Amino acid sequence: MSCIYLSPPHMSGQEQVFLQEAFESNYIAPLGPQVDAFEQEFAEKTGAEYAVALSSGTAAIHLALIHLGIGPGDEVLVSTFTFAASANPVLYQGARPVFIDSEAESWNMDPALLAETLERKAKKGKLPRAVILVHLYGQCADMDSIVRLCEKYEVALVEDAAEALGASYRGDSPGTFGRAGIFSFNGNKIITTSGGGMLVSDDRELIEHARKLSTQARDPAPHYQHSETGYNYRMSNLLAAIGRGQLQALDERVRQKRKIFEYYHTALGDLPGITFMPEAPWGRHNRWLTTMTVDPEKFGADREDIRLALEAENIESRPLWKPMHMQPLFKGCEVAGGMVSEELFENGLCLPSGTAMTHMDMEKIVEIVRQQAGSARLQHAGTPK
Ligand SMILES: Cc1ncc(COP(=O)(O)O)c(C=O)c1O
Repeated sequence: MSCIYLSPPHMSGQEQVFLQEAFESNYIAPLGPQVDAFEQEFAEKTGAEYAVALSSGTAAIHLALIHLGIGPGDEVLVSTFTFAASANPVLYQGARPVFIDSEAESWNMDPALLAETLERKAKKGKLPRAVILVHLYGQCADMDSIVRLCEKYEVALVEDAAEALGASYRGDSPGTFGRAGIFSFNGNKIITTSGGGMLVSDDRELIEHARKLSTQARDPAPHYQHSETGYNYRMSNLLAAIGRGQLQALDERVRQKRKIFEYYHTALGDLPGITFMPEAPWGRHNRWLTTMTVDPEKFGADREDIRLALEAENIESRPLWKPMHMQPLFKGCEVAGGMVSEELFENGLCLPSGTAMTHMDMEKIVEIVRQQAGSARLQHAGTPK
């Protein structure tokens, strides 16, 4: 399978300079000047007050939930249309996820469903302890409405911006609206440290607690003393050096990703039944992945026809995320709505979006997709699918 789907981001060139600094200062271990600098530069870039660099985005969500005191018996509202990493930390804490469906404008959490759910839970006298809101595929959710609801019901908001670094909501970075925000530097993200994550917040106590928990929760004492459960979640100084170089390339990376989207949009947007993920009026999409839906009636073939045609040419594309409420792992969990994300899963496709793609790669992809238009109707001899 070709690796153009989400090729790891290119190096900016600065990574090596910072890595060299790390080697020369002999700080190879976790902690060190590169980690401090990466946290500071990341906080500046996103506009957050504080940041702590961790081993993954999942670890960042987990530490936020621990700090918020979430435990067995608690409920946490989570976007259903996401990757499992958004919801797994709820299970780590023995709490229960309650899933909220998307709205069509941004494919992110529907504020109307969030409002209904919070109202229903408030009437029963048991509010959720937190909301984990995902900014999916690089697009911000409807923050004004969601922040207002979380404030009204005094429920902590944790923003999963793993896929949305470089996007904006009315000019501000995702991850900076709630109690805490998380980012991922996994190999397929818009910038990478090969693996890593960041937790940001304006709450100094939250960040200091997370920092302590991430290095086995050592109490301030000359000997090793521990009074709460700790984790090995800190980012190493070497990976932070790579992160610093990558961060310098972020704006250029967003530009490249948006260009890839524009190319597909121009080359395929005229096909009946093809609809690209909308860019909501409140923000700027980072177009980490170019995603679209296929209406089989109008297009004359379905998203699987396209995916398999690309696969036959050794080109990887993928269905959109399978919603959490449809996952065997979360069977029996409560869900508000569900139809919007189910339909996105049924008909949606992520096109290859790696910045290593050549113009020829993209021309070929477009050609294969265009060939599929109407193909099912031909195969089925006039019986529309
Ligand atoms: C929406 C979302 N949340 C969380 C994560 C977890 O990030 P990480 O892989 O760094 O743990 C990812 C990506 O992997 C993601 O796409």
